Amino acid sequence: MNIDPNKIPIHVAMILDGNGRWAKKRLLPRTFGHRKGAFNIVDVAKACEAIGIKYLTMFCFSTENWNRPESEINYIMNAPIRYFKRYREKIAKSSFRIRFIGRRDRIPALLLNTLNDMEEITKNHTGITLTLCVDYGSYDEITTAAKEITQLALDGKIKVDEITPELIEQHLFTKDFPKLDLLIRTSGEIRISNYLLWQLGYAELYFTDTLWPDFDEKELEKAIQSYQSRNRRFGGLNDNK
Ligand code: IPE
Ligand code: MG
Repeated sequence: MNIDPNKIPIHVAMILDGNGRWAKKRLLPRTFGHRKGAFNIVDVAKACEAIGIKYLTMFCFSTENWNRPESEINYIMNAPIRYFKRYREKIAKSSFRIRFIGRRDRIPALLLNTLNDMEEITKNHTGITLTLCVDYGSYDEITTAAKEITQLALDGKIKVDEITPELIEQHLFTKDFPKLDLLIRTSGEIRISNYLLWQLGYAELYFTDTLWPDFDEKELEKAIQSYQSRNRRFGGLNDNK
């Protein structure tokens, strides 16, 4: 890959979009796109790990995706159970540390058990931290943080003046994650869709027309090259100014 090994982003997030259109183009049911898209998560995570990215955070199912047809939701909720069962041993031996973030009170119990099991069997792995966001939405995440912090204040455990950006971060799902460096969204949509709104504060954004199932190592390379060409100033000035 033609990328600078000294400027690799530490934490990359991805909005996986375009599974349905990928299937439609081939006159296949949408679920075929989700299947291909799910396998692609593993390939892209491996490619990210190979270039030295430490955290990869993928948007798999949003708090708004419940508005989809029941049959599609059923597929998305059940496919990971089958997948993780089939590949459990392989995952246990892999380098990936797998984590899940999002609401835990609406997904089926069987899926929740599977996700907990995957986290447990990979918790000491030292490779890339692959976080799958399931029933995740930033409005929900930030509202939950606001409730927790308000409760701390009402209970007299903190003073209102002690509410800082750092404290708010401690109440987000991503509390022990490094700062987000880069967000990639596939399929040509130029929006954030309630994803990691707080965490995106100073991330670089990269949008590509490529549909998620077609996003491969070459596409990753292009995204990283674009990231490396950016001048990140975090509100300050360039060194030479
Ligand atoms: C992304 O692909 C996967 C999920 C949101 C679950 P889409 O299902 O949104 O695919 P399009 O946007 O219809 O092509
Ligand atoms: Mg979509």
